[in-house]
Amino acid sequence: MPTTPFIPRQARAAAVLSLIGNTPCVPLRFEREGVTIHAKCEFTNPSGSIKDRLAKTVLVDAEQRGLIGPDSIILECTSGNTGIALSMLGGAMGYRVCILMSAGASHERRQLIEQLGAELILFESAGRYQTGIDMSREMAARDPRYFLPRQFENELNVHDHEQGTGLELIQQVGKPIDAFVTGFGTGGTLAGVGKAVKGRYPSARILAMEPAEAALLAGECPCCHSIEGVADGFVPALLRNAPLDGNVKVSSADALAMTLRLHREFGLLVGTSSGANVVAALTTAREMGPRATVATLLCDRAERYFSTALFQHRERREATAIG
Ligand SMILES: Cc1ncc(COP(=O)(O)O)c(C=O)c1O
Repeated sequence: MPTTPFIPRQARAAAVLSLIGNTPCVPLRFEREGVTIHAKCEFTNPSGSIKDRLAKTVLVDAEQRGLIGPDSIILECTSGNTGIALSMLGGAMGYRVCILMSAGASHERRQLIEQLGAELILFESAGRYQTGIDMSREMAARDPRYFLPRQFENELNVHDHEQGTGLELIQQVGKPIDAFVTGFGTGGTLAGVGKAVKGRYPSARILAMEPAEAALLAGECPCCHSIEGVADGFVPALLRNAPLDGNVKVSSADALAMTLRLHREFGLLVGTSSGANVVAALTTAREMGPRATVATLLCDRAERYFSTALFQHRERREATAIG
């Protein structure tokens, strides 16, 4: 049987590729607190999160270097957003995509992945993300068709945020940034944007937002928290060389309350980690004084959290009305 020559798939995905990155950055004025912070709107990426950047960088690079071909299956362990991004872009580029996800991740994320045509394998993690990473490695060792983006150790993850997200932020803010604060999953965003900001403004403070219930960088034990997408229970390798100056702890309750405020007072339908990032940015701005320029990221959209604590306040109100 004649074999069909492999034609790079980037061209067929040109439309969606053109929508990734170059996200807007907006000033958010908090009158009550007397503070303005700069928020980069990563939720405007086409699949709804900052992870579209990783999917684009890794898949385009893999294709250009011949690491993937017509039979390749993109396989990644992810708490959700990376899975959605890889499913969207991998599908548009014509690749099979298989996503390993903790059974605890929200249903909306699972549905989006399946809607995009990817295969979903759920694993019981008991809070240990490593379980899924080990599974993906075993699968790849048995079948050479699997290609692992390895978001937790891939230096492209950091490099892309340094050259993309970070430089965009510096240009958009347009004046010296005194502090940049965001949460971490793989650590790629914090390390990459941190390097860019520190490179341009050496006295800038680069801070990690951590759930107060799982402040690992503060040397505390991981525990359950409601800030999905960040703090998976370990300090990721990509953070080892990050120019970190400290951390800001945010409780799940404060993150949820701020996310609701972003929805209702600002009309920004973002996920819980965005609320947490904004709380951390406000705390930082209050500490540094009203003239400080503090920047953060709004990482993803709200609609993937319908079944989580973020939307449960409505049920509580309805229950009270009935009772
Ligand atoms: C929902 C969400 N996804 C992704 C990220 C960034 O993760 P990473 O550290 O993997 O770059 C964040 C960081 O705050 C986040 O809140």
